[in-house]
Amino acid sequence: MQADLVLKNGLVFTSKGIVEADIAVNEEKVAKIAKGPNIPKGVKTIDCRGKIILPGLIDPHVHFRDPGETEKEDFYTGSCAAAAGGFTLVADMPNNQPPTSTVDAFKSKVKEACSKAVVDFCLYAGCGAENMTEMAYLAGEGAIAFKTWMYLSSPFSNLLAVKDFKEVIQIFTNTSKLGVPIAVHAEDAETIEQATTLLKSSGRKDPAAHSESRPASAEVKAVRVCLDAAKKTGVTLYLLHLTTKGAVEEVKAAKSWGVKVVAETCPHYLFLTEEAILQLGAYAKINPPLRGIEDQKALWGSLVDTVIDCIGSDHAPHRKREKEEGREDIWLAPSGAPNIEVSLPLMLTKVNKGVITLARLVELMSTNAAKLFNLYPARGTIDEGAQGSFTVVDLKSDYKIRADHLYTKAKECMLFDGWMVKGRAIYTIVRGSVVMEEGVVVGSRGFGRFTPRGLTQRRSHSVS
Ligand code: DOR
Ligand code: ZN
Repeated sequence: MQADLVLKNGLVFTSKGIVEADIAVNEEKVAKIAKGPNIPKGVKTIDCRGKIILPGLIDPHVHFRDPGETEKEDFYTGSCAAAAGGFTLVADMPNNQPPTSTVDAFKSKVKEACSKAVVDFCLYAGCGAENMTEMAYLAGEGAIAFKTWMYLSSPFSNLLAVKDFKEVIQIFTNTSKLGVPIAVHAEDAETIEQATTLLKSSGRKDPAAHSESRPASAEVKAVRVCLDAAKKTGVTLYLLHLTTKGAVEEVKAAKSWGVKVVAETCPHYLFLTEEAILQLGAYAKINPPLRGIEDQKALWGSLVDTVIDCIGSDHAPHRKREKEEGREDIWLAPSGAPNIEVSLPLMLTKVNKGVITLARLVELMSTNAAKLFNLYPARGTIDEGAQGSFTVVDLKSDYKIRADHLYTKAKECMLFDGWMVKGRAIYTIVRGSVVMEEGVVVGSRGFGRFTPRGLTQRRSHSVS
């Protein structure tokens, strides 16, 4: 037998620990993990000596802006950025124009993304008061999860956001019945509206006003509401981009009572504090906002002690011109930053420093997302029979992040330009095909495949 691809001499991160072995991939799947003569010859062979082969990394939270705002990013550039950053699978958010909250919008997004993606992708479906009757059909189309905002100033709020506890319960009940998780942007609308009105009426337009308009209490209040609703409805709750000590304490308590909650944070909350918005202005305007050092310490603590389960980049590209509008008046700039290409090198730098283990990084950046999306063990682990998708990492590579080397259209908005990091992906391999080699994207447009929520696993896998 000849295999399509053989990875030789690597340190393979298997479910049984790191082993020195070769991997043969055939017809998109891992055919064999063994050493020496037991491995077939490959049509293509890559020498991975000194490198670590991780399960293909998954970014559970990206905004590729396609359809609707493709001048900011599109599925081709976004997925090139994903491949460059070491991700083999991404899950794209539904706040498009039109929102991915109807079956028609969902289907047409799948079609468009299939024609452009370089890596595999999953799609969230949006939900709000206006599309509750359509949720079952969206689940049938393979939505990976539903997403709703508790605060969103958008003309599409009825398709993407909830306005009160009654709607929270309705949506959580629906998603629970469908057996699909509900992902929530948890920041309390009333708190934000009141704070914003006060700040604006006192003439504040400076960058710090953004942080003050979205206090930690807004997140903690919304997180409590969601956890309460999750407990009542039994849904699996995916709490996106947590930023505060108070929120992770709530999650920790809820987990101990058996609430099915999966928690996420993002690289910008782990590596930047609220100081950044004072230095970088609107470029560091993100929702929820960057926080203080005490919150950041709590986030690192909860990564280690398994309260936080996933790292999502929340890759949210905007144009430089729009960010510049916030120079004189912070309220005018859009929120979000493009981080998919730096998420892994930043985290590997912390692995090198001994802050987290590589095993924990794999859980946070692959295995737990695969479990949440019901794609485990086909994804999220390296075992015979699993998908042949890998992120090959060079842990020793020191380099400087250069915004002008990025694939995202939003490279001018990069927050980490000039940072020194240690560790990066040198190959991104999707179903046996190399899509990124030594920093260069070699995968072709349209190779990436739509990956619906897994239906085959009757067992549910608890994360961590
Ligand atoms: O900062 C953010 N940007 N937060 C969100 O909730 C949305 C995102 C975006 O889409 O730009
Ligand atoms: Zn987001």
